[in-house]
Amino acid sequence: MAEPLQAGVSIASETPATSERTVYLETFGCQMNSADSDVVLARLAEHGWRQVASVGAASLVLYNTCSVRDHAEARVRGRLGELKREKRERPGLTIGIMGCMAQREKAALIANYPHIDLVVGTDQFVHMPQLIDRLRGADGEAHVVETAFADWEDLAGVDQQQRWTNTRSSGVNAYVPVMRGCNYNCTYCVVPMTRGKEKSRRPEHIEDEVRRLVDQGRVQITLLGQTVDAYGKTLGDGTDLASLLRRVHAIDGLKRLRFVTSHPKDISDSLLDTMAELPKVAKHLHVPAQSGSDRMLRLMGRRYTRDDYLRFVDRARQRMPQVEFLSDFIVGFPREGEDDFRATASLMDAVRFDGSYVFTYSVRPGTPASHLDDDVPLAVKKARCNELLALQLTHQQEKYARLHGSVVEVLVEGPSKSDDAMLHGRSLGNLNIVFPRSGADGATRDRLIGSLVGIRIARSTSLTLFGDVA
Ligand code: SAH
Ligand code: SF4
Ligand code: F3S
Repeated sequence: MAEPLQAGVSIASETPATSERTVYLETFGCQMNSADSDVVLARLAEHGWRQVASVGAASLVLYNTCSVRDHAEARVRGRLGELKREKRERPGLTIGIMGCMAQREKAALIANYPHIDLVVGTDQFVHMPQLIDRLRGADGEAHVVETAFADWEDLAGVDQQQRWTNTRSSGVNAYVPVMRGCNYNCTYCVVPMTRGKEKSRRPEHIEDEVRRLVDQGRVQITLLGQTVDAYGKTLGDGTDLASLLRRVHAIDGLKRLRFVTSHPKDISDSLLDTMAELPKVAKHLHVPAQSGSDRMLRLMGRRYTRDDYLRFVDRARQRMPQVEFLSDFIVGFPREGEDDFRATASLMDAVRFDGSYVFTYSVRPGTPASHLDDDVPLAVKKARCNELLALQLTHQQEKYARLHGSVVEVLVEGPSKSDDAMLHGRSLGNLNIVFPRSGADGATRDRLIGSLVGIRIARSTSLTLFGDVA
């Protein structure tokens, strides 16, 4: 999953009384974390909490954290450092940490940052209002409470969510977690430690939630899971992602259905057939390859070979010639030599991905790979990272140039984030397409938000295609 990051901390001058129920929440990490944050905000709202845009205006500050690379944790450590003074000046301020770093570090966080009041595990956050009330207690003083970390077999936290996630603010997009946890054990990855074993939600609960979201105007739904193509395995009744897609696809008013992230080993022919058959399902596969070298894939514990990956790409393209591929890569994994790196670059050349996230390897404490020497020098890691990113951009630019002059069907999502005078949307794949927010007559086109519109592509940069209504 991509990692959308939100705005930084800003300190406002007015300071609320501790009794005032105002919450500032900042989310780090993947879309699963964003979805969890929405649940927390919705639950807090039920208990009289109001979201505010700055730390200074809040009586409760929550960080929903990510542990996937050290950089993600360092950002939270930075925020916590900044909060020290705020807490000294306003001892009544409550500071809570949730998400993967909370799960991974538990009491160590409180030991290192004594101004933290609450650490909440990745399955306990649905109880946030009660935890805060308990913490503030009858005397109004903050107490340190370490929650009992969830029993992964306890499904309550998963299935209860469907009652809350639909209360989010308006917009075209909604993200619906369909499973939690991960049953793979890629040797570099912290997620199985922070999110536990794979667990799928009941398809009827997911369908109900999507129905309500679509009724509220959320016409593009993205189903979320760490290995979403493994959806249903834990239900044991033959439910799988293909059958879930069919079920959700039938909902009237839904315009587009997406799913992320997939593991190469779990993409079945029947899933690809279903994607090809259902018109509202995005022809987009985010299937991280991580490396193009069999030796690295084995050390990473990925359970497929380079050939398996290339065969998967062929299987998908045979059924959907227009399908778009997005990948993640890790460079500088222990023992990665020049040949291994060249194999990754050549995999990129062979597939020609539509997008790639490239990460330099970051040792995660407690993972199997943490016992291997982190022996690729940082400068080499960075150089390899830059080389793959440059290669990816070349592939994108070449593809985009071929699209100039053609008409692409776009689901319009809203004003462009970088230019208020433009609207943006995505193709049936995952191309980011931007066009003017007003027509030749100067009239606004905001009524197009949430509709499918044909856009004739005129030009492009390496990340965005620009055009106008055809
Ligand atoms: N569940 C998804 C990805 C989860 S993490 C999947 O399996 O595909 C998102 C990405 O972060 C991974 O695909 C990987 O490329 C990267 N990543 C995970 N652990 C990492 C680490 N220790 N160092 C660098 N990158 C890492
Ligand atoms: Fe991590 Fe691998 Fe699971 Fe993805 S499949 S979350 S990389 S262990
Ligand atoms: Fe997501 Fe980061 Fe956790 S990527 S699952 S928030 S470690």
